[in-house]
Amino acid sequence: MIWVLLTIVNLILGKSYRVPSFDDFLQKYEKHYESTEEYMLRKRIYEENVKYIKNINNGENDEGIINWFSDTEVGSRKEKKVSEERVASYPPEWDWTLMEAVTEVKNERGCNSSYIFAAVGAVESLLYLQGKTNGTLYEMSEQVILDCDKKATCKGEDIAVPLDFMQSMGTVIEAFYPYEGNSYRCQFDLMPPDLLFNISGYRQIQPNNYTALYEAITINPVVVFMNIGSEDFFSYEAGVYGEDLCQASPLNHAMLAVGYSEGEFIKFKNSWGPNWGMEGYVLIEVNSANESKGGTCGILKYGLTPYL
Ligand SMILES: *[C@@H]1O[C@H](CO)[C@@H](O)[C@H](O)[C@H]1NC(C)=O
Ligand SMILES: *[C@@H]1O[C@H](CO)[C@@H](O)[C@H](O)[C@H]1NC(C)=O
Ligand SMILES: *[C@@H]1O[C@H](CO)[C@@H](O)[C@H](O)[C@H]1NC(C)=O
Ligand SMILES: *[C@@H]1O[C@H](CO)[C@@H](O)[C@H](O)[C@H]1NC(C)=O
Ligand SMILES: *[C@@H]1O[C@H](CO)[C@@H](O)[C@H](O)[C@H]1NC(C)=O
Repeated sequence: MIWVLLTIVNLILGKSYRVPSFDDFLQKYEKHYESTEEYMLRKRIYEENVKYIKNINNGENDEGIINWFSDTEVGSRKEKKVSEERVASYPPEWDWTLMEAVTEVKNERGCNSSYIFAAVGAVESLLYLQGKTNGTLYEMSEQVILDCDKKATCKGEDIAVPLDFMQSMGTVIEAFYPYEGNSYRCQFDLMPPDLLFNISGYRQIQPNNYTALYEAITINPVVVFMNIGSEDFFSYEAGVYGEDLCQASPLNHAMLAVGYSEGEFIKFKNSWGPNWGMEGYVLIEVNSANESKGGTCGILKYGLTPYL
């Protein structure tokens, strides 16, 4: 509807034709896809088709270039694309939250335990995505780590600490061991043994390499250690958080990387509750100029991802 109106307005005003966005296209042709993967694939094909035809039209009238098949790879172009297609081992966009593979945003409260929240977040998605939880996305416990691992404190620790614990001891469903925001006596012994979940290990993402991070994110959300220094971060509300607002060191905060838009941003889940940022999430700028220097806020310096 909006698209139709805009077209009419443009015609009346004699403005050049504006090619509809992918979402406008979907609306116009009433298209629906079964999955986010398909949506992303179709969006990419649509955008490539638009680019291709605009190129052929050479800046001339673009009207009428969109039709019902604009999200489909067609004819000769398909063959041509094989050689021309962007050579990448990952899709241009990704977002695990759209695939409902990320638990609700949590709140670490007065305890500096972002390193535990980020690590537990990665394991929650891992267990779900690898089919260990019968198709249920369970929230897992941060508190069991805070209580039972001597290395875990409320002062911020290495992101490897909670992952080591979940490898050697395992973790339990949050409901059995809810978050308190302080260290108390360990009650690991009281947990039902058949509901303990172990990870087999974790690996480090190659530093200073956006491609490595993108690739890792498409497999599972990634635990990332980064720098937050300025007040701007605490008061962040929306948009892409830029490198003029943070340093590459020291690494003092952990978040869960859940998605990206290639060359634009990495999407992170924070542990400061849903009222902070974009419903608890933040987008951090991707700047290829800083790739070799640890990336914006140091996000390329130290990332870990668990596996089963
Ligand atoms: C998944 O289902 C199996 C078989 O019914 C059961 O033994 C197991 O406890 C379930 N696991 C979870 C996490 O619900
Ligand atoms: C948590 O970190 C913040 C910022 O680094 C610091 O101001 C605060 O004192 C820390 N709190 C604790 C309990 O360590
Ligand atoms: C987790 O791993 C440890 C060490 O390999 C093992 O002792 C423990 O039984 C495992 N727990 C589960 C639930 O698999
Ligand atoms: C960056 O990571 C990608 C994907 O793992 C890899 O193919 C590439 O060789 C890496 N680049 C460098 C400079 O190591
Ligand atoms: C990132 O690169 C830009 C432009 O090259 C530079 O101004 C900025 O200081 C760099 N930031 C970091 C954290 O290295």
